[in-house]
Amino acid sequence: MITRVSPGQIETYRRDGFVGLPGFLTPEEVDELRQAVLAAVAITEKRVIAGHSAYYDSVWTRRVNLWRVNDTVRRYLLDRELGRLLCELAGVDGLRVWHDQTLIKEPYANPTAWHMDSPNWSFCSRQAISIWIALQDATMGNGCMWFVPGSQEIADFELSGATSTIDESLDSLFDVYPEMTKIDTVPVPMHAGDCSFHNGMTAHGAGANMTRGRRIAMTCSYMPVGSVFNGQQNVLEDDYFGRLVEGDVLENDDWNPVIYRKIDQNSGPA
Ligand code: SIN
Ligand code: NI
Repeated sequence: MITRVSPGQIETYRRDGFVGLPGFLTPEEVDELRQAVLAAVAITEKRVIAGHSAYYDSVWTRRVNLWRVNDTVRRYLLDRELGRLLCELAGVDGLRVWHDQTLIKEPYANPTAWHMDSPNWSFCSRQAISIWIALQDATMGNGCMWFVPGSQEIADFELSGATSTIDESLDSLFDVYPEMTKIDTVPVPMHAGDCSFHNGMTAHGAGANMTRGRRIAMTCSYMPVGSVFNGQQNVLEDDYFGRLVEGDVLENDDWNPVIYRKIDQNSGPA
């Protein structure tokens, strides 16, 4: 696993709101992670997530929080050095897991409508970051990711809430943000083992799977340490959600463990 990037790649991430990292995993690592993800999917029930419509099922086979049921998935997604890299890209001192999910576009699956991730989540942060790992080649034909570079600077929590869900309309996001349509969209085709990182406020989507094969990807999203609950349930379990009050710090180590935190030289681990 590559966990070092150049200053130029960090600059690209900060400017564009996303950056690709070819060769993130070796072929052996991709095989190991793909097998682990598929094994975890086989034993994980589909969960209904607050605010998500039935349309999601026509876009992907999706299972959430596989890191909790599979040690190999956990080892990759909660890797401390990966955490350090994510903090470096996001420009934060510490990150917790928000949630992971496998996103398998089955043959002939629908496109993933343009959206931003963060406005759906249970905290508002402009520094949340996700990794998207291709566990098979992700091509222009089977639904690779696309981004609107710089859109994270335009996106706004107030405006984007209702339009950040994924439905039949590919472009409703642009009704809210017409200025984004002045920017050329960028596809990020990948070989298996490549990954990309994106800011939770960056507009992104993916094409339909026009092929007879699956597009298997694994993603994980991370929230800055200290993020506070904004009242939205999203992926929070009913029990935990029921105990939260708006403004509470999201610091449940069972669901949202810290994957990396910079050491404070004066006071030991912060
Ligand atoms: C997709 O894989 O189709 C979309 C991923 C994302 O929304 O982050
Ligand atoms: Ni997304």
